Amino acid sequence: MPVNPNFLERLVLLRLNKGPAPMLDLFGAASFESVSLALDLGLFELVADAETPLTASTLADRIDAHPDGIAMLCNFLVTEDYLSTSEDGYRLTKMTETWLLADSETNMGPWLTFWNELVFPFWERELETAIREGEPSQSIYEWFDEEPERWEIAQDGFRATASLLVDDVVDAVSIPDGSTQLIDIGGGHGLYTVELCRRHSDIVATIFDVQGAIEAINDEIPAELAERVSVQTGDYHTDDLGDGFDLALLFNVIHAHDPAENTALFERVADSLAPNGRIIVLDQWEGSGRTPVSRAGLRFVALTYLTTLGATVYAHEEVMSWLREAGFTDVSRQSVGPLSGLALIEATKQ
Ligand SMILES: C[S@@+](CC[C@H](N)C(=O)[O-])C[C@H]1O[C@@H](n2cnc3c(N)ncnc32)[C@H](O)[C@@H]1O
Repeated sequence: MPVNPNFLERLVLLRLNKGPAPMLDLFGAASFESVSLALDLGLFELVADAETPLTASTLADRIDAHPDGIAMLCNFLVTEDYLSTSEDGYRLTKMTETWLLADSETNMGPWLTFWNELVFPFWERELETAIREGEPSQSIYEWFDEEPERWEIAQDGFRATASLLVDDVVDAVSIPDGSTQLIDIGGGHGLYTVELCRRHSDIVATIFDVQGAIEAINDEIPAELAERVSVQTGDYHTDDLGDGFDLALLFNVIHAHDPAENTALFERVADSLAPNGRIIVLDQWEGSGRTPVSRAGLRFVALTYLTTLGATVYAHEEVMSWLREAGFTDVSRQSVGPLSGLALIEATKQ
């Protein structure tokens, strides 16, 4: 967690501007590097599995590292609130237990690893190009294609964020009576589809994604759903999506494309739907950041989409108008969960 300045520090650094507040970003960058390394070394899991606090020298033995190095890493992680320390050694804080342990239902470790191993290296290479030219020299998905392991890291990261939202999102999705055929376009890890199928025993689903993504997730569909969830590889801009679907999910896909591409994609989705079929679009929406953290989060993803995909976040009104242009009716917005600030856009094929 970024260091939380005390009252005096907030006054000097943030209110009075009498000290260099950008230093906090420097600490944040070092903190991200240190947490990423700790995840990579399995340090948090070692501390979690121990019955008593672990000293730096015990940790160093188990990790095969230098005791001074581990002590310095852990001491920094204490200041960033990932570890606590006492005379007996280091323990995990509640924050680390909740958000960074593999057996936690809210484990965000794979999301941090995705950023550390893929997105920030890509930023480093492409940020300036994207700012100067308006797009990167290649999309991050094209870069993933060069190394299949990148797709695995990416899908693990996407799954980690989806696992935080899946219950609220699936609660918000309305399933009209008689809807049985679902396509999850750009569905990747398939978590949303899996949860919808668990809750609605008559749904049969297809996860449609590019080959690299499908190869990365293929064996992760739960065995009990193997008969009802299939995968299909292809490019949703050009390849046949199939037809007769009652529901089409388009979750976290449209931020990768420009308005004309999105309208064309909506038209293709309309063609794949049965009469009265529904499209459900989930994404981050321009203008939805109402607090400092959510505003920063939105600007952060917008800059990321520019750097990695040459695209952006869109206002929901704009997306609703593309849906109408593509021939959809009953276009509506539906909030997701009480606190997330997320919303779905749903529409019906005429
Ligand atoms: C940000 S991920 C979203 C995954 C999932 N829908 C979710 O919301 O967590 C975007 C997905 O779209 C897929 N994708 C991107 N371009 C595609 C294309 N042209 N055709 C098919 N899938 C594509 C990616 O492989 C990736 O799995």
